[in-house]
Amino acid sequence: MKSRSAMLPRLAVSFLMLSSVLPVLGSTTSSPENSSVTPAGSPPRPPSPLGDLTWTLGLRLYRAVRSEPSSVNAVFSPLLVASSLGALGGGSAGTTAGQVQDLLKTPVSSKAKAQVGGLLSAALKSFTDANGTAFHLHTSSAMFSKQAPPVSKSFVKDSQAKFRLQHQPMGKGDAKADLKQLRAWAKAGLGGLDGAPVEGEIKANAGALILASALRFKGLWEKEFSQESTDRRTFLGVKYTKVMMMHRAGLYRFHEDMENMVQVLEAPLLGNKASLVLLLPFHVENLDRVEKLLNPEQLSKWLEKTSRTSVSISLPRANISSTLSLQKPLSALGLTDAWDQKVADFSGVSDKSKGKLHLGGVFHWASLELAAEAGKGTVEEENIQKPKLFYADHPFIIFVRDSATGALLLMGAVDHLEGEPLHDEL
Ligand SMILES: *[C@@H]1O[C@H](CO)[C@@H](O)[C@H](O)[C@H]1NC(C)=O
Ligand SMILES: *[C@@H]1O[C@H](CO)[C@@H](O)[C@H](O)[C@H]1NC(C)=O
Ligand SMILES: *[C@@H]1O[C@H](CO)[C@@H](O)[C@H](O)[C@H]1NC(C)=O
Repeated sequence: MKSRSAMLPRLAVSFLMLSSVLPVLGSTTSSPENSSVTPAGSPPRPPSPLGDLTWTLGLRLYRAVRSEPSSVNAVFSPLLVASSLGALGGGSAGTTAGQVQDLLKTPVSSKAKAQVGGLLSAALKSFTDANGTAFHLHTSSAMFSKQAPPVSKSFVKDSQAKFRLQHQPMGKGDAKADLKQLRAWAKAGLGGLDGAPVEGEIKANAGALILASALRFKGLWEKEFSQESTDRRTFLGVKYTKVMMMHRAGLYRFHEDMENMVQVLEAPLLGNKASLVLLLPFHVENLDRVEKLLNPEQLSKWLEKTSRTSVSISLPRANISSTLSLQKPLSALGLTDAWDQKVADFSGVSDKSKGKLHLGGVFHWASLELAAEAGKGTVEEENIQKPKLFYADHPFIIFVRDSATGALLLMGAVDHLEGEPLHDEL
């Protein structure tokens, strides 16, 4: 910790140098709070994570998922999970509905409850509109039903319109056939990519509803990473592996939290329609310590403290994928009645639901590609002065947020990267 605190004066120096080369920063910006003011023309910040249900749910779910000792490289879409739960909430009543609502509420805004559908569909639309420019995105959400009573037409229509959730009847086959059907669905949802295998088995009894979502994301940077300087380096993850690393120096929103020993970096995607936020511990360590710090307040604080700084970034070029069964984590967060045929109340899904309809599983496929390419757009000059180093050769946490709505499309932990193993570990 001591050696790092020596960086503090250097940070101040780099700000001074930055402001001296930027005439737009006049004398009014010399106060400490304002020393981090972004130069003219730099994009406005997205809305804060505080009070946003995708962040609140995402961070709670992340913690529950990561409390499993076997969790490695968990990546998922809080926006898709929230949307599927929103649709499910619309089909439920009584305590089942109450428990779904509790998962979707935020401590800050009370009016959010009524607006859940509107907020989520606005965020889904914002992401879909930027598809093909700022990133390549494939998403799909479905509710499968196994030998269920007829599903209400208005429920199907509503969940499709508001939450982009399709209804799909499940075949009459056994658990193996169900798994096959789900995997084929996921592959199509991921745009032809084979997802990681589902952990555990799928046990769908008659009357089971299964929520499934799939998301594949590849961001296109505002400014590309150099293709030439990509080289093979060691990633110090769960296992040490040789991976391709890409490099770029530029101006990025950046903050170094000396107390918690975490670097926070926000890198825009093309047109600043969305951005990637990365949390990197100063030293090589597993993510346990940083994960304990994660909550909407801390995230907002970190993001607010970032300022345009010269940063030299090294990032692995990699695919991070996971397939998660969310039954256990969602139950741990209070969704308990939905799974139990005797108490679940899905009377909004079907008027013959009683004693039959219940939630049989929630499965989530996600894949995030970190690549060097930028989108097609104009690139402005950057004046880089004494860059700070952001060297991601060890586990980090990643977020993808929408700039217009602030919604959290994706979050994940990178603990391990595939690559040739390094045998001479210490
Ligand atoms: C930063 O500067 C602007 C004007 O340049 C001023 O309106 C604002 O109050 C300042 N903020 C702080 C925190 O000093
Ligand atoms: C994004 O665009 C691609 C290519 O046009 C398309 O295949 C895909 O379905 C789109 N994704 C979404 C979520 O609309
Ligand atoms: C990531 O996956 C895509 C799609 O399969 C592939 O084209 C790309 O080469 C992969 N990238 C890396 C670094 O493995």
